[in-house]
Amino acid sequence: MHTAVTDLLGIDAPLVGFNRSPGVVAEVSRAGGLGVLAASAYSPAELDAQLTWIEQQVEGRPYGVDLLVPVTTAALRGSGDRATLAAGLRAQIPDEHVRFVEELLIRYDIPAGTPHEPDGELIANLDPSGVPALLDVVFAHPIALVANALGPPPPTLVERARAADVVVASLCGTPEHARRQLAAGVDLLIAQGTEAGGHTGTIATMVLTPEVVELAGDVPVLAAGGIATGRQMAAALALGAAGVWCGSVWLSSHEDISPVSVKRKFLAATSSDTVRSKVRTGKPSRQLRSAWHDEWEKEGSPAPLPLPLQPMLISDAWARIDEAADAGHEGALALESFFIGQVVGGFAELRPAGEIARTIIDGCATRLAELADLK
Ligand SMILES: Cc1cc2nc3c(=O)[nH]c(=O)nc-3n(C[C@H](O)[C@H](O)[C@H](O)COP(=O)(O)O)c2cc1C
Repeated sequence: MHTAVTDLLGIDAPLVGFNRSPGVVAEVSRAGGLGVLAASAYSPAELDAQLTWIEQQVEGRPYGVDLLVPVTTAALRGSGDRATLAAGLRAQIPDEHVRFVEELLIRYDIPAGTPHEPDGELIANLDPSGVPALLDVVFAHPIALVANALGPPPPTLVERARAADVVVASLCGTPEHARRQLAAGVDLLIAQGTEAGGHTGTIATMVLTPEVVELAGDVPVLAAGGIATGRQMAAALALGAAGVWCGSVWLSSHEDISPVSVKRKFLAATSSDTVRSKVRTGKPSRQLRSAWHDEWEKEGSPAPLPLPLQPMLISDAWARIDEAADAGHEGALALESFFIGQVVGGFAELRPAGEIARTIIDGCATRLAELADLK
């Protein structure tokens, strides 16, 4: 199956698989698509180890990396070292919010859990001084694609990618985002509709994809959001996309590293069971609806804080909920949730990631052949 994207990336089928689990990334690339590692959760040393492992698995096949190159916010400017940065941000969290989360955990009887370092990963992601080390690791590996998670890629990322002959991709949720990404010099646009898991806008993939294709000119477009089957992939190609970028579907794979309790809830969910909400990160993101959302939406509950204060407020609570839910704790299971798109309604069982990728690719080819037969 040849499109502008298979040529650009040197892959057999225009399917990109986004996930934070190296096992998923390797299997998607081995199946003929492109696996992309969500790298925002890893330190430079961890990322180096993950990328080395992926390379051993893919045996020369292309793969990519998705980064969260930090935004500089007013809160971060002139903040000094990471401990000072964390303390300064923590001081901005109102007592009302801290009490609300504490009382919620007490009401659901959530145990204390294993102590962990608060804010570590989060602050590392927000600290602009960590970027050069991260980019040094990324560009020391033979990646085929680099994507930036939030906003247009910064000039330093684009320059380093150009020098290393690496494709720069970027997600957009509106035509305006797409124009900004094109101005920043991206080689590949990802039009991500509201159906998607994770941070997402309000425009449906069906509407957004042709809008972005129209303004992208020669820059190829991947459709994202609501794509987990061959039929959906064929529909994306029919809309003018040169391929698809899938995220949620891999959470139904064996290789995905999400807590087992979350994956079980996904298998039982329908396509109506997601919610686009600020209660997890402070920015609207699609996730599985749970008692956590019901509690935040009740009258008298505080409004979610902006990023990064909301994740700082709740990160310890989520570590405790995930740990207790995995141990079968009833209250934790009621609260348990994670980022997921509307395609969750189609999850029937956990399967190997490579099998999922091949099923989507083969299903797309079948559907395209059926469409070609239409008179
Ligand atoms: C669990 C999860 C985490 C995500 N995290 C990120 C992220 O860190 N960076 C990013 O660029 N996109 C992220 N996304 C969005 C995906 O890149 C992708 O655009 C989206 O999943 C596509 O829609 P789908 O979920 O319907 O497949 C995430 C998606 C999911 C499901």
